[in-house]
Amino acid sequence: MDAAAEALLPPCDPHDLELGLEFLLRSVDVLRVLQQQLLVLERLPLRYFAEFRAYLDTASGAQSAQFRRLTALFGNSHDQGSLYEAFAAAAEYHGRSVDEVCRRGVETGVLHRLAEGLVDLDNGYWHWKVAHLALVSKMIGEQSGTGGSSGVDFLARRVTRPFPELRRLRGKVHHA
Ligand code: HEM
Repeated sequence: MDAAAEALLPPCDPHDLELGLEFLLRSVDVLRVLQQQLLVLERLPLRYFAEFRAYLDTASGAQSAQFRRLTALFGNSHDQGSLYEAFAAAAEYHGRSVDEVCRRGVETGVLHRLAEGLVDLDNGYWHWKVAHLALVSKMIGEQSGTGGSSGVDFLARRVTRPFPELRRLRGKVHHA
């Protein structure tokens, strides 16, 4: 995803946009693998999980440095995040606003495919968060997390999604 953002940062010629798209689509695939991987844990009999949970002590996925980098790249409700910003800058560099790319669709070529790729990434991230929530609920029910949070309630509040602007524009697309 860093590589995608880097490729899209202006000055970016059409070749850079294609490169950014390749990186972006592979990231979508990686997220899908991560989500599917959770299903294997979901099938783990509880007695085996109970065998090792105590060894985690206060360790938790919430301490993951990579996950923190991912959320920085995706932004939050105040800031759009570096990936979206790189995409918006690339669109502007090629004379289009994000709004125009979303409204005009295929007519805007690779910019349209990039916007769709970002929406797939958004959905992939969402799928991971929901799959993780379902896994946690099955494994620990209403217990709190090893990292000290309330567990499922805490995680349910954190099922947030990147790229709100792209979702807002989903309804604005022109008819074919
Ligand atoms: C049975 C397995 C799992 C359980 C019971 C579980 C439970 C939890 C809980 C309760 C939290 C909230 C923080 C805390 O209090 O610890 C959390 C956060 C997190 N976990 Fe897991 N987890 C499991 C598996 C995984 C796996 C396999 C991964 C990644 C490969 C993962 C990645 C994360 C991440 C990235 C967070 C932070 C999420 C956020 O801030 O929204 N977890 N987990």
